[in-house]
Amino acid sequence: MKRDDLPPATGWTLARRAERMNPSVIRDLLKVTERPGIISFGGGLPSPRTFPVAAFAEACERVLRDDGPGALQYASSEGYGPLREAIAARLPWKVDPSQVLVTTGSQQGLDLVAKVMIDTGSRVLVETPTYLGALQAFAPMEPEAVGVASDGEGIDVADVARQRGDARFLYVLPNFQNPTGRTMSETRRQALVHVARATALPIVEDNPYGDLWFDAPPPAPLTARNPEGSIYLGSFSKVLAPGLRLGYIVAPAAVAPKLLQAKQAADLHSPSFNQRLVVEVLRDGFLDRHVPTIRALYKAQRDAMLAALQREMQDLDVRWNAPDGGMFLWVRLPAGMDAMALLPKAVERNVAYVPGSAFYAGEADHRTLRLSFVTASQEQIATGIAALATTIRENLPVRPC
Ligand SMILES: Cc1ncc(COP(=O)(O)O)c(C=O)c1O
Repeated sequence: MKRDDLPPATGWTLARRAERMNPSVIRDLLKVTERPGIISFGGGLPSPRTFPVAAFAEACERVLRDDGPGALQYASSEGYGPLREAIAARLPWKVDPSQVLVTTGSQQGLDLVAKVMIDTGSRVLVETPTYLGALQAFAPMEPEAVGVASDGEGIDVADVARQRGDARFLYVLPNFQNPTGRTMSETRRQALVHVARATALPIVEDNPYGDLWFDAPPPAPLTARNPEGSIYLGSFSKVLAPGLRLGYIVAPAAVAPKLLQAKQAADLHSPSFNQRLVVEVLRDGFLDRHVPTIRALYKAQRDAMLAALQREMQDLDVRWNAPDGGMFLWVRLPAGMDAMALLPKAVERNVAYVPGSAFYAGEADHRTLRLSFVTASQEQIATGIAALATTIRENLPVRPC
């Protein structure tokens, strides 16, 4: 046999953690929904109508003109100083810029937290349901992820105390949660911080949607009330653009140096150019003018979806919530239905969503599904919700007489 004819090497042995890396159910599902003609409420993408393209075009020019070489050079792992200052200045509690670690999206923040905080078998508490991307980031570290009971007001604090055990941390999304859109009430926040303090339970607070409120800002972050006991994750993805891949972590001194070392090993630093761009774009209070336009658009979109649900599904035993901000709304199908099994039938009718079962650490509620109200047009929302209602009606389980 000539050397080139040898069969390819087959000696790959993957690490055990690689088995824990599962394809995102959502990404796989969404491939189907990319077919032309499908109205998808499935994606978690911000509306591209909110991306400030012109502001970025101008900022690009200024960054390259004023400090092109600096913007194109390697930089410090902590992040670009003026960006860290801008982030610290926007947070609603006293944060020194030196406490801010710029990350490549808040998704990297989750990955770094997992590496620094989780050993094989470590107990990690999460909401029920919770952000799938966090479960994915934690999984390779082989935690025991435990779902804590939660309701429309957020996490059940008594259950946090019951489940606390030797948990390394509680991961929680108090504002306009992904996937449910729910917001943790002020009473719950106070109670949760009390339990966290009393039981020395560290909290990892993820807040990418907090600025996207519709009528009133959400209550203060948990971290603002207990900075030494919390790690806070923020992001520019939902208020500027996700393609920048810029987020940040604010962590107490007990963990911050290790997160920085993990960051160094992961990618040296987040893109220097993008960090400077954001500093340029943020100048002169840009976000204070820009974010209200996103809020207004998303609120109108939410209202369109709520109106369509009311119009099309009021006679069905379907339940949904009315989120006060963010991008998602949570639906529960009639008894006996399964959102995963229904999806192909919905796709036949040219509408798609994400089945809720993807978002549970423990036993899933198979009747649930997530709808994004921000990317489809209001016309598409009307058509898509009508199609979903028809799909549900056609597949209602037959009740025994
Ligand atoms: C709750 C939550 N956390 C983190 C992320 C990751 O965001 P990014 O890495 O773009 O900042 C997302 C993205 O949708 C999210 O919904």
